[in-house]
Amino acid sequence: MSKIQMVDLLGQYEKIKTEIDSAVLNVIRSSAYINGPEVKEFQKELETYLGVKHVIPCANGTDALQIAMMALNLQPGDEVITASFTYVATAEVIALLKLKPVLVDVYPDTFDIDVDAMEKAITPKTKAIVPVHLFGQCANMEAIMKVAKKHNLFVIEDTAQAIGSNYTFSDGKKQKAGTIGTIGCTSFFPSKNLGCFGDGGAIFTNDDELAKKLRMIANHGQSVQYVHDEIGVNSRLDSIQAAILRIKLRHLDEYAKARNAAADYYDKAFAGNKKVETPARTKNSDHVFHQYTLKLNGVDRQALRDYLASKDIPSMIYYPIPLHMQKAYTDARYKPGMFPVTEHLCSCVMSLPIHTELSNETLKYITDNVLEFLNK
Ligand SMILES: Cc1ncc(COP(=O)(O)O)c(C=O)c1O
Repeated sequence: MSKIQMVDLLGQYEKIKTEIDSAVLNVIRSSAYINGPEVKEFQKELETYLGVKHVIPCANGTDALQIAMMALNLQPGDEVITASFTYVATAEVIALLKLKPVLVDVYPDTFDIDVDAMEKAITPKTKAIVPVHLFGQCANMEAIMKVAKKHNLFVIEDTAQAIGSNYTFSDGKKQKAGTIGTIGCTSFFPSKNLGCFGDGGAIFTNDDELAKKLRMIANHGQSVQYVHDEIGVNSRLDSIQAAILRIKLRHLDEYAKARNAAADYYDKAFAGNKKVETPARTKNSDHVFHQYTLKLNGVDRQALRDYLASKDIPSMIYYPIPLHMQKAYTDARYKPGMFPVTEHLCSCVMSLPIHTELSNETLKYITDNVLEFLNK
């Protein structure tokens, strides 16, 4: 059995090595490193895959969120609501643009934004909502869109962890994560479900005017070469990364299947054990298992992680500190105990290795060892 990793990027690469190597070499030979044809082709292919009118590639997922908020003409002091249980980037860009992040708690089962709490947090200054499709499953988009419509708010979907996931509305209509709100944002960080070999990101929208503006902002606010209509940023996806992503996009659904097979194995192994709660699946969304995150009940989490580490089994805590308790986000509005679900989750979640290359032998080894510790 090979060394167990949270994500096996090398194992995944080896299976598509011939295609990747030749695509990368082609870009090198073409010298079209920036905005080359590979970027345009990837953009078109991702638009088709997602069923969205516009994909704007950019440098990373954090830039995608920032560019999205810049394009919506939000003004300093405008309030943007997001979940308290997420990766920092979501709140970071809100604060960076001098907007006011308004955090709300999440559901204890799916870890996604609590829609009632979200609606209660709306004030006359609220301009946008940023639901995060955490760990690979869509937030409650139907309810979120209803609230957004009622209060005339923009919705920016953070789908960095859920690309490829389908959301099913109550009328049976399906849409891909990131294509439902005003704008969708994603990351192609190497460990993401669609990851490149460096940094990368993209923005999605069905709005033609907004797409123009997003594209312009990502390119120094330039409308025509050397004509700058907006203050923008420099945020580009490299051609080499686009060439790699074109190949990996063709495998994305099969990668989601492999992740689901590993998740099913874990679910079965832990079923009925009172000390662990396996990830909840909602009926409205596919799960693409960016992470497989357990909730531990009355278990010494660090002792379990140490035990697993002693057996060469890695584990991770996503996320150990709630956003409202981070030094950078200290605010008189926030007190410990304010977001009890988030605080509880930060104290009890633990993620196990999940990726496309997990064999049943490895999964058995991992689950046997987790159970060995739990049943001691
Ligand atoms: C939920 C979420 N949002 C945004 C980001 C930021 O993406 P990037 O690292 O590409 O800037 C990440 C990446 O980890 C993420 O998980």
